[in-house]
Amino acid sequence: MAPFNRAAYLVAAKRSPLEVKSAAYTKPGPGQITIKTRAVATNPLDFIKQTVGDLLYDWVKYPIILGSDVAGEVVEVGKGVTRFKVGDRVVGHSIGMAKKHNSPALCGFQEYVNLLTHMSSHIPDSLPYENAAVIPLGLSTAACALFQKDQLGLQFPSSPAAKSTGRTVLIWGGSTSVGVNAIQLATAAGYEVITTCSPRNFELVKRLGAIAAFDYRSSTVVKDIKKAFQGRITAGAISIGQGAAAACMNILGSCKGDRVLSMATYPLDPMNMPKRFVMPTIAYTYLSGMAALWIKAKRYGVRSQFIFGDTLVDNEVGPVVYEQFLPKALADGSFVAAPEPEIVGHGLEEIQRALDVHMKGVSAKKPVVTL
Ligand SMILES: NC(=O)c1ccc[n+]([C@@H]2O[C@H](COP(=O)([O-])OP(=O)(O)OC[C@H]3O[C@@H](n4cnc5c(N)ncnc54)[C@H](OP(=O)(O)O)[C@@H]3O)[C@@H](O)[C@H]2O)c1
Repeated sequence: MAPFNRAAYLVAAKRSPLEVKSAAYTKPGPGQITIKTRAVATNPLDFIKQTVGDLLYDWVKYPIILGSDVAGEVVEVGKGVTRFKVGDRVVGHSIGMAKKHNSPALCGFQEYVNLLTHMSSHIPDSLPYENAAVIPLGLSTAACALFQKDQLGLQFPSSPAAKSTGRTVLIWGGSTSVGVNAIQLATAAGYEVITTCSPRNFELVKRLGAIAAFDYRSSTVVKDIKKAFQGRITAGAISIGQGAAAACMNILGSCKGDRVLSMATYPLDPMNMPKRFVMPTIAYTYLSGMAALWIKAKRYGVRSQFIFGDTLVDNEVGPVVYEQFLPKALADGSFVAAPEPEIVGHGLEEIQRALDVHMKGVSAKKPVVTL
């Protein structure tokens, strides 16, 4: 008999809280595994979708199961799967909302989740599920930015780390979930990293591999980073956080090397959504923000594009990261699960609270719910 499954559903595009209900248990297809979920983590994507409704992922039909970050134990493997067996401990990026894959069975906030094997990795016995669950979307987004040919197109990471390329990457927002993964991936690929975060997180980002960290709130931060790049050759930048893209363009404009920028954050702040005239205000903020960035990119001679953190599922970067790099790097300790989980509670009913905690703002922490 199929196991009884439950999920946390977003039932309508009305900013309504998640509702926990029974869900179908779907057997894994070819190239898939099913896990009993032990921990999930939240991402801005989840509360942004809950806030903006059909402005994002309008192809996904309600009721929707959100969630990209899951860790758990394999309970069933699909046809042709040899890399995993029942009982294995894994972490995976659940990509059920991605346009090409659009399927509730592949979404994260449920007790049984189907994962694509090339977006899943074994985790060491020493790594608790709640720590592993923080990895996926941050890692995937960082990997898309650094390694996809249409983004920075850097050489791939390895463990032990690749020989130094002698080039430097700017990662603006190094203490974010995307940033802590980007620092480690870029370092493992043989690049030096200069980053920004709050001073309380300088020690963290340096421990993960950054050679220098600057306070993004400082009035001299752009000038200070330009100085740090003197005598260095850049391989490009990733901008994470509001205002990051414009600052990175300004810095790249004075750097030697590749003036290429991958932008993780769109010019729309989900923490400051309008209360009135919602759609026109969002449309105006977004379009004027995009126009300003386009003008800046021209002015500083920067090639820039936004990242979609799930595009690696359909190119060579997904298997490089989840099959080749991550399992080995976690096992030998050269890559650590970061940021720290902030365990909000236990059970699907607690996921809404985790989203609320995340939306209020976190610092080098990721809300996690154990299941
Ligand atoms: N395009 C995509 O596919 C994609 C995928 C994932 C995430 N994102 C976007 O990437 C951003 C980060 O997401 P996340 O999950 O990594 O975030 P997160 O971990 O929840 O972000 C928290 C961190 O943000 C930092 N921060 C806040 N404002 C900042 C700013 N203006 N500049 C630099 N850092 C700032 C804080 O640093 P301190 O505490 O050190 O001050 C804090 O550690 C969000 O905008 C998110 O929407 C995009």
